[in-house]
Amino acid sequence: MERIILDVDTGLDDAVAIFLAAGLSEIRIEALIATAGNVGLDRTLENTLNIAEVSGLTCPVYAGSSAPLVRARVEAGDFHGESGLDGPVFEKRVRQKAQEASGIDAMIALVMDNPHQITIVSVGPLTDLAIAIQRERRLAELAKGFVIMGGSFSRGNVTSEAEFNTYADPEAAKIVFASGANIVLFSLDCTRTVTLSPTRLDSYRTRPGRCNEVFVACMDSYTANYTKRGQGEPQMHDPLCIAYLADPTKVALSHWPVDVVTLDGPSYGKTVKVAQGKPISVAESIDIPWFWSLMDRALAALP
Ligand code: RIB
Ligand code: CA
Repeated sequence: MERIILDVDTGLDDAVAIFLAAGLSEIRIEALIATAGNVGLDRTLENTLNIAEVSGLTCPVYAGSSAPLVRARVEAGDFHGESGLDGPVFEKRVRQKAQEASGIDAMIALVMDNPHQITIVSVGPLTDLAIAIQRERRLAELAKGFVIMGGSFSRGNVTSEAEFNTYADPEAAKIVFASGANIVLFSLDCTRTVTLSPTRLDSYRTRPGRCNEVFVACMDSYTANYTKRGQGEPQMHDPLCIAYLADPTKVALSHWPVDVVTLDGPSYGKTVKVAQGKPISVAESIDIPWFWSLMDRALAALP
């Protein structure tokens, strides 16, 4: 059983990551933390609560950071829509509501109370994780590890050089990559290879369950937004981090020290492989048919 804290900026592919984690018996979500990213914190929190509710999750949902450490906040709404989760319409929630406590405090407490047992999965800007590392210097050592979606070692998706999650808070990403934690990084170089075809999306339309229905509505919206931008089929960035935890043998890794450009200029927010520092594991490829079989199993297990 992989026990995780899932830090999200829900977002359409974040929602898929939550569905995957909620539906797999190999994974236990100890806490969901919504952070500002694709859209503002008010909307990422609302979106996260709605996905947690339809998934039948009973884990606590917290608010994380509302702004990056240093830079001005940027959004990626044009891939995710005005709400950050365009597509599904949700009923009034009866169970899930945000915890009063801070998500960052909860992250620290969970790791410190369960040394070497909790993996922090971060699929949005790394602000929450960076602040937690600054507040508790043993966090990186006592977490089982960090699994992160972010960065690119080729072209970016928000600037020509930078990927959105690292571009949205480069200073936070720099702190996290230098923390010394056991890190597995899913950059665009791997995640852009896993896309949802119209044929595969159509195969979900006749399947039962409210979560499957929400998944289809989210992916219809995600597909339309990619098509509108001429970006081809929608890319399954965030759920790959969850799939890795279900079976790490399905992911090919390389190992490099990674840094983030924080100097103003065209490379701001770019991830770079460097010569010095503790290497992190960088996902090079994933068994794509296996990923979709995992997705099918998770959605079939959800209400
Ligand atoms: O660049 C892709 C990442 O940015 C994904 O996490 C997506 O949800 C957006 O946050
Ligand atoms: Ca995300």
